[in-house]
Amino acid sequence: MTKTDVNIGPARGKLGVLLPGMGAVSTTFIAGVEAVKKGFPSRLVPSLKWAPALGKRSENRSALINEFVPLAQLPDLCFGGWDIFSDSAYDAASKAKVLESELLGQVKNELARVKPMPAVFDPAYITQISGEYVKKGKTKRDLAEQLREDIRNFKKDNGCDRLVMVWCASTERYTELSPCHQSVQAFEKGLLENDPMIAPSQIYAYAALQERVPYANGSPNRSVEIPALQELARELRVPISGSDFKTGQTFMKTLIAPGLKSRLLGLSGWYSTNILGNRDGEVLADPGSFKTKEVSKLSVLEQILEPETYPSLYGNVHHQVQINYYPPRGDNKEGWDNIDIVGWLGYPMQIKINFLCRDSILAAPIVLDLALFMDLAQRSQFYGIQEWLSFYFKSPLAAEGLKPEHDLQVQLLKLHNTLRFLGKEELINHLGLTYYGIVEE
Ligand SMILES: NC(=O)c1ccc[n+]([C@@H]2O[C@H](COP(=O)([O-])OP(=O)(O)OC[C@H]3O[C@@H](n4cnc5c(N)ncnc54)[C@H](O)[C@@H]3O)[C@@H](O)[C@H]2O)c1
Repeated sequence: MTKTDVNIGPARGKLGVLLPGMGAVSTTFIAGVEAVKKGFPSRLVPSLKWAPALGKRSENRSALINEFVPLAQLPDLCFGGWDIFSDSAYDAASKAKVLESELLGQVKNELARVKPMPAVFDPAYITQISGEYVKKGKTKRDLAEQLREDIRNFKKDNGCDRLVMVWCASTERYTELSPCHQSVQAFEKGLLENDPMIAPSQIYAYAALQERVPYANGSPNRSVEIPALQELARELRVPISGSDFKTGQTFMKTLIAPGLKSRLLGLSGWYSTNILGNRDGEVLADPGSFKTKEVSKLSVLEQILEPETYPSLYGNVHHQVQINYYPPRGDNKEGWDNIDIVGWLGYPMQIKINFLCRDSILAAPIVLDLALFMDLAQRSQFYGIQEWLSFYFKSPLAAEGLKPEHDLQVQLLKLHNTLRFLGKEELINHLGLTYYGIVEE
């Protein structure tokens, strides 16, 4: 596809955002959008305010993203989802205690209308919580068919033009790739035979793809991160993205580590610990679910620092990550990082970071951007892995054989350049030599 071939379908009609998992992140996201629809200042929903520069620096030109590519508008968004508890989004948000009751009260009716559909759930994948509000089926294939029916009914009942799905459910236990994950054929056989290696999140992703609904994975567990579903996404020409929303400590890591590397500051150790008291923290107290998160968090540093290229600086880094479930803090996570760096002539130095963040407040805008951009991707005839959305993920997906890009600033440049490409604008490479007459225009 070249710039002249780009033909973006209009963002007309309603966009339904389907959310497996209606917990803290999902309900904070829905409440924020509904609040803006009712007049809450949209400057407090920062994602729509991004304004990448357009054209040459001397042109002094920029635009809001939705001014140069057609994005769905917030009033056109509607919400649905699944959970293992039947609580409405209002009840779930009240229990999650992320938002103050005054703000929640203002969108009570809108949230109360969002009722989850019964979930596809398997206690073998999440051990810390259980719920009764689950689908029954003889085979995993039956469960996938029930989800597909839910998707079609949601679209019809809500008069949606288009749908996207963003996985916001609890983190499933760590799993290795197995034979049923290797091809669409093997996966479909596994669905029929109830292969225990097929996780619920993979059944949701399969159902979404079959219904041509773009699918983004906000958790670290393997969902669309298996060859079978990536093959299906290419075959059916549906966009996919993942994995694990990049918030909190890993967000900080991908800001700081590229900076250290750019100045060739060495690293001997990076110790990260967290306290977290929400339901996500409770699920992560299970070693199987934590292992999934740990793998996602640990891989970031290695991929940014490239120890194979810089063995003397990064060949022996002690990297440790802990998450401790500590109920009194609820959603207000606190993270501590101790970073041992090494400078000129081997002199050691330290950096300490104490990040008092709010987990779901950081994650909700990511859900919004992903919903809008995955929809844009589909209307632009993009399909398969959407690497330009790496910016949002701790473990960004990349084509086979490609190293994923973790540096936040490079990810942002990639995102902006993709939007410039879609808006038929000049891509920016920051060479800048034309301003000095060294290189001709
Ligand atoms: N908040 C952040 O900053 C952040 C960052 C990265 C990733 N995440 C991930 O996002 C996900 C959601 O986080 P949260 O804080 O909202 O968690 P949460 O526990 O508040 O909500 C998750 C919801 O998923 C439901 N659920 C579990 N299994 C399900 C299934 N099979 N089908 C449907 N629903 C199911 C649970 O009942 C719960 O209501 C977690 O996996 C978390 O690891 C969050």
